[in-house]
Amino acid sequence: MAKWWQERVVYQIYPRSFQDTNGDGIGDIPGIIAHLDDLKDLGVGILWLSPVYPSPNADYGYDISDYCAINPEFGTMEDMERLIAEAGKRDIKIIMDLVINHTSDEHPWFIRSRDKQSPYRDYYIWRPGKNGKPPNNWMSFFGGSTWEYDEKSGEYYLHLFSKKQPDLNWRNPKVMEEIQNVMRFWLDKGIAGFRCDVINLLYKTSLENGRIRLAMALPGSEHYVSQEGTHEILRTLRREVLDHYDCFTVGETVFVTTEDAKLLCGSDRRELDMVFFFEHMETDAFAKWIRRKFNPARFARVISRWQNALEWNANYLENHDQPRSVSRFGDDSRYHAESAKMLGTLLLTLRGTPFIYQGQEIGMTNFDYTGIDQVRDVASLNIYNLAKRLHIPEPLRWKIIKPTSRDNARTPMQWDSSPNSGFTTGRPWIDVNGNYRTINVASQMKDPNSIRNWYKKLITLRNTDKTLIYGDFKALEITRRVFVYRRELEGRSVTVLLNFSDKPQNAHYSGHLIVSSYGRQSYKGVLEPYEAVLLENGANGE
Ligand code: GLC
Ligand code: CA
Repeated sequence: MAKWWQERVVYQIYPRSFQDTNGDGIGDIPGIIAHLDDLKDLGVGILWLSPVYPSPNADYGYDISDYCAINPEFGTMEDMERLIAEAGKRDIKIIMDLVINHTSDEHPWFIRSRDKQSPYRDYYIWRPGKNGKPPNNWMSFFGGSTWEYDEKSGEYYLHLFSKKQPDLNWRNPKVMEEIQNVMRFWLDKGIAGFRCDVINLLYKTSLENGRIRLAMALPGSEHYVSQEGTHEILRTLRREVLDHYDCFTVGETVFVTTEDAKLLCGSDRRELDMVFFFEHMETDAFAKWIRRKFNPARFARVISRWQNALEWNANYLENHDQPRSVSRFGDDSRYHAESAKMLGTLLLTLRGTPFIYQGQEIGMTNFDYTGIDQVRDVASLNIYNLAKRLHIPEPLRWKIIKPTSRDNARTPMQWDSSPNSGFTTGRPWIDVNGNYRTINVASQMKDPNSIRNWYKKLITLRNTDKTLIYGDFKALEITRRVFVYRRELEGRSVTVLLNFSDKPQNAHYSGHLIVSSYGRQSYKGVLEPYEAVLLENGANGE
């Protein structure tokens, strides 16, 4: 049965970098409200807000110190309620980030849990050391051990991410009860669902040492990735909370294969509605930090496999953790507009719900930073410092961080060509990319051939074209240069031709076509323009 969250396009907002309205250099909720009309104009139907809860900002909001309040840097609860209401008037739904694998170490639960006698002790995972060493050999996602020693109680606590993000103990029924209340609190305010942060890591089956492997997976991950205990938690949250609202969930799921993902989001499983997988994000990198050459064929094969494996996909090319897509899969200098449009075409014509990350619709590029003092991201800083301790020379450390840092996606939104890109009248919390004078929303709104207008055109099409929404996916051609696929529904089909090279390609497709090329060259014999939506006139080039 058709679902509203399958028919809408999602736009992800990283509130800190979206729009500042009070000159403190930090984006805020009134700033989001101020742009609702632009977002409506773009055609998006759902906004996902990265965390807006109080946070000491060790990981900019992904370390939460109060689940049922708004970070004063972003505004007030009244602002949030106004945002939900104003978005609702424009038929835009809001989903929030649900970060329940861990809290901040400044959350009152954790502060109390430092006391061995407290009933909150068991909200987290505390263990004595082994011969003066951490309880096991697990490695953190952000580098170093997953264990931090606490002087006061003489034990270690587990943190899969930074030491300011202690993991909750999901074996404790009190934790389950608390989080259910948090979810109800927000759903009752009218939000339409959650993006569930690292959700397949919740349940730790054992705390045994992890195997050391050459593969990407972190030592210890076999004890906590997609465990049966997590499936059970997801089913409980669905049954007890989510099923009572008209809402959906998308889970961020790490280290998952298509088989794992089916168990997490198959409709008969009654767990999540869809998942973000990472396999396509690994086609130009090993273990996130080490880059390898982008190979369009490898990329297209991974995407095709996922398209066919799952009932419904969550499609994305960017988010707040990933470098900008035009800089990694496109060409952000010679073919900036062309390659950005081609990537947008891919995103918006696959089967599944498309997720656009703020700035992607104008082709924002990787950060033009020149030194580590401009880096804000805890993961990048940890990796950089770890490399320093390993005596890796500075130029090489910088070479690792520069193209991969999460800050590539976190520079302020480029609204116009005024100072600081119209993001703030104050000093931005992270530098604005210098290319804002040429790449910005205001100039692209005026230019009918802009990246933003191409996005708008395709979003408008997808919003109403059932073939693009529900049609089956079939890959027709995958090479280093082209990715061609067909979407088909009840005898009607749309063929998407993506030219990943800057050379003209031969093609022999007819019927309803959507064509987009990386460079300025198209498909010989089919069409002249290198970008075109030819749905009704059925171009036939033979
Ligand atoms: C997810 C978030 C990321 C965060 C991490 C820990 O991967 O997207 O930004 O650092 O979880 O919460
Ligand atoms: Ca502000």
